[in-house]
Amino acid sequence: MKKLYIETVGCQMNMLDSELVVAALRRDGYELVRTPREADTILYNTCSVRQHAEDKIYSALGRLKHAKTHHPHKIIGVLGCMAQKDQKLIFDRAPYVDLVVGPGQLHQVPDLLKSVAAKRGPRLEVSLDRTAGSRERVAESFESYDPLRTPEMRPSPYQAYVRIMIGCDKFCTYCVVPKVRGPEQSRPPAHILAEVRQLASEGCREVTLLGQTVNSYRYEQDGRSWRLADLLEALHEIEGIDRLKFVTNFPKDMTDDLLQAVRDLPRCCPYLHVPAQSGSDRMLRAMKRGYTVSDYREMLGRIQETLPRAAVTSDFIVGFCGETEADFQATVDLVRESRFKNSFIFKYSERPGTKAYGLLPDDVPEEVKRERNNTLLAIQNAISEEDNQPLIGQEVEVLVEGPSKKSAKKSAGGPVMQLTGRTPCDRIVVFDGTPRQIGQILPITVYDANAFTLFGSIVTQHVGPEVYSLGT
Ligand code: 5AD
Ligand code: SF4
Repeated sequence: MKKLYIETVGCQMNMLDSELVVAALRRDGYELVRTPREADTILYNTCSVRQHAEDKIYSALGRLKHAKTHHPHKIIGVLGCMAQKDQKLIFDRAPYVDLVVGPGQLHQVPDLLKSVAAKRGPRLEVSLDRTAGSRERVAESFESYDPLRTPEMRPSPYQAYVRIMIGCDKFCTYCVVPKVRGPEQSRPPAHILAEVRQLASEGCREVTLLGQTVNSYRYEQDGRSWRLADLLEALHEIEGIDRLKFVTNFPKDMTDDLLQAVRDLPRCCPYLHVPAQSGSDRMLRAMKRGYTVSDYREMLGRIQETLPRAAVTSDFIVGFCGETEADFQATVDLVRESRFKNSFIFKYSERPGTKAYGLLPDDVPEEVKRERNNTLLAIQNAISEEDNQPLIGQEVEVLVEGPSKKSAKKSAGGPVMQLTGRTPCDRIVVFDGTPRQIGQILPITVYDANAFTLFGSIVTQHVGPEVYSLGT
């Protein structure tokens, strides 16, 4: 058996890519190991969204230099977004890397590894640059990688990510995704339906549809136009799928038909991740997001009207080029009034290859970015904690995912263990149960809550008469 170590950074799209690469390599006789030291093949599936994610990978590669000198047969590969962005530069910075493969060439990984193992030299396989040819040619060079998976190769038999589109055409000025993931391309509905049917037949209960702007999904076929709402309606028919989620949404494409689909299809979870990025019109314009704060508020109003119990989450970038104290205050105001379930907050990180790079100076000092990040995070966390309190004493419905982090660490494994799962609104719940309950959807009574987690106990279902009279 060949031994594979893989490390993944970044978004759900990367998690899915890694899962698919691992599945393909398992078929080729690889088994997963826990450390690079034990491995014959070491792969990093990388992210380029922020500098920090790239630094982490380059320092991990740096640590392998020594290992490669002593064990020259070890194969080292860099996959994903940073491979597409940096290309040959990776060989320059780490000459002992054998393989650089962009997100549009992942289907080639098994063959590329064979080529490297046969000592045919290092390999670089990436897609065309977005300006290197016609849209069609560039799009063709980014191939969606969605082979059918077998259940034992998925991290959880009960949950799965399903890609419905690749790439992005929004070109927000700060963002490297349109460059590294290529033009927006939706998958044919028939392929998505077939994949979900297969997952359902294997016991999968929850499907999360993935796309960089998932609600921009559009596919024209036989004179019919498919949008995300149509896809949800068709997927909802599939027996066995109890929960449908989708991430990430673009505010401008949050149409009423989609909100109504989520309202009318009971298995669609009322959980909407719709990044605002900023609460200042000036910043939104500089980011080229294509909406104003009042458009975003109007959208939140429509969500509230159609789906009053929905959990809405957001992303924010603080310290973007030229962000003043007043711009930041506008973001604080938006966070305060919107009461998101939670927000992911990022310090702006200048990315080569984006529109902001070179055109807009990265002029907010690091310590101001850090301060704004902490301030916004504290406000959001207080809101998350406050809004979780009314759930105490209530019953929530939880899909049990597995042992909690705490009990996964303890290897004792008695009959009762701490489990974790999620509500339809994507709230994390921790409770005591047995391993047999993994994969079930259970009622849980919440007895405590902080900003990030609900703590509860399984509702015991009483069977038979409530009171036995033993007689006197
Ligand atoms: N710097 C900081 N954050 C960024 N994001 C995207 N690009 C950058 C960048 N250059 C954030 C956005 C996006 C999330 C996935 O990452 O908030 O929604
Ligand atoms: Fe990046 Fe904007 Fe596309 Fe999201 S919508 S992936 S932030 S360019």
